Amino acid sequence: MKGIVLAGGSATRLRPVTYITSKQLLLVYDKPMVYYPIKTLVKAGIKDILVIVAPTFSGSFVNLLSMEQQKEKENGQCGDFCGVDFTFKIQLSPRGLSDAFIIGEDFIGDDDVTMILGDNIFLGHDFSKEIQNFKSGAMVFAKEVPDPERFGVVEFDKNMKAVSIEEKPKKPKSNYAVVGLYTYDNKVVKHAKSLKPSSRGEIEITDLNNIYLKENKLKVNTFDGTWADAGTFDSLNDIQNEIRARKSKGEVF
Ligand code: G1P
Repeated sequence: MKGIVLAGGSATRLRPVTYITSKQLLLVYDKPMVYYPIKTLVKAGIKDILVIVAPTFSGSFVNLLSMEQQKEKENGQCGDFCGVDFTFKIQLSPRGLSDAFIIGEDFIGDDDVTMILGDNIFLGHDFSKEIQNFKSGAMVFAKEVPDPERFGVVEFDKNMKAVSIEEKPKKPKSNYAVVGLYTYDNKVVKHAKSLKPSSRGEIEITDLNNIYLKENKLKVNTFDGTWADAGTFDSLNDIQNEIRARKSKGEVF
């Protein structure tokens, strides 16, 4: 299983600070934002990780992650990114989340792949079991939220089987948002290449998930713990407060 962290985009919603740095490098309590999704992959046993970044500030990602690893090596310690093999690639323009599988085609090779969004923070749930038991098709995760219209929304039948997924619907069919952690079999590259851009000009991850849903190969899991898409000032502030509170109680991330 390979891993991709998608940390592209221009984060216009977080201006003015994103004029001078990338959203995924912003401080989230005591660590750069991108540390959290990387650690989610590492905890799930994924050590071969492609980091996809926008051209502006791309050097800062290389500096940050390489320095952290070098520091660990010099100190003879096995720290946050111990044994992780990072590859970097640039996404020239924000063409959509599914573009990650086209950019990542050579990196993925013949393997399965788990992608996590660089602004998605998960606390209090370990995804290792689900990811390590993945066999084929696609697996996504859903969480109940008060504002589903901001996200991909999944509708379940009474047996909690997914029946539809819609991207940012005006009238959501449920409160379940599809979170930014996706596991796919190797067919994902071929499927991503078959997608047409949506009205917002992006090749949508929801369209990719719908291909698997139509083939009856999409598994949607719910999970305990906290999830944040830290792409707005409010969500960023909330997750920082939660991390601070959890750390003060002795929780280790
Ligand atoms: C993207 C996806 C959406 C998903 C969300 C999770 O939204 O398109 O389906 O629910 O990530 O963070 P975007 O970041 O484009 O607003």
